[in-house]
Amino acid sequence: MMIGQIGYAIVAMIARGLMLGPDQPVVLHMLDLPKSADALSGVRMELIDAALPLLRGVVATSDEAEAFRGVSFAVLIGGWPRKEGMQRKDLIAKNVPIYQSQASALQQHAAPNCKVLVVANPANMNALVLKELAPSVPAKNITCLTRLDHNRALGQISEKLGVHVDDVRNAIVWGNHSSTQFPDASHATARTQHGEKTVRELIADEKWFKEEFVSVVQQRGEAVIKARKQSSSLSAASAACDHMRDWILGTPKGTWVSMGVCSDGSYGVPKGIFYSFPVTCEKGEWSILQGEFLSLYQYSRFRKRYNFLFDEDFPAENK
Ligand code: LMR
Repeated sequence: MMIGQIGYAIVAMIARGLMLGPDQPVVLHMLDLPKSADALSGVRMELIDAALPLLRGVVATSDEAEAFRGVSFAVLIGGWPRKEGMQRKDLIAKNVPIYQSQASALQQHAAPNCKVLVVANPANMNALVLKELAPSVPAKNITCLTRLDHNRALGQISEKLGVHVDDVRNAIVWGNHSSTQFPDASHATARTQHGEKTVRELIADEKWFKEEFVSVVQQRGEAVIKARKQSSSLSAASAACDHMRDWILGTPKGTWVSMGVCSDGSYGVPKGIFYSFPVTCEKGEWSILQGEFLSLYQYSRFRKRYNFLFDEDFPAENK
């Protein structure tokens, strides 16, 4: 991983067991540009100083081969962050070359079954670059982060209902980690004192579901940038830990999460692109949840408004 703001936040989380579980020792490999070598060595010092019981080693390097050598899990954070007024896609020219180079290091040096999470923006595009340029890495092992949007959705529902976020589950984020994503609360549920209820039953406010909720989640990254003058870090690090933990250790029974994965054509999404779906995970494998998750209304509105599918991808039986 690279050690900018997100990296600085995530290393302690990983070394405290938030990603791989509280009993799993870890060796951290941190990669950054040569010009950041001093800062990286400072982070290494801090990790030693924190006396973290699970931490069994730290590799701090600016050499991609050394960084990727033998790793079982790779969280790819490195890239230019967006600034106020930019779209994530404006980063393509600067960040895609980083992933071109990391693809070859990943393919040559990582452990054979290495699981990869792309965090840097544009995340879906960077994941696609890795898939194309590291063909020996199974496509199912490459994923991108939309858990941040998923967690934002849970957060918004919990604020609206005044319940603890831990009592809310099963939001869905469809699509790209961009302003075209479709955050969907229609299947989410919340535990209340009267048992688990659908959020739709609890919030009788169609406008909130269709407009406010969707746009707050879509625009949250930008709102954080406006407020902090830099992009979200601790929430991104935390979501990356959630993503990897659920992928590796499994999603709790009855719960799904959102992950950007290589489409197998489910829901009419073109095969081979990286797209966020509701998934469940078991024994280190994700599977796209199948079912009646998009109503025809949502499908067509979403398609029209966010241009999420091309006409020819819209399943004929739903036309
Ligand atoms: C986010 O969603 O907060 C990150 O992708 C950073 C950004 O550029 O919005």
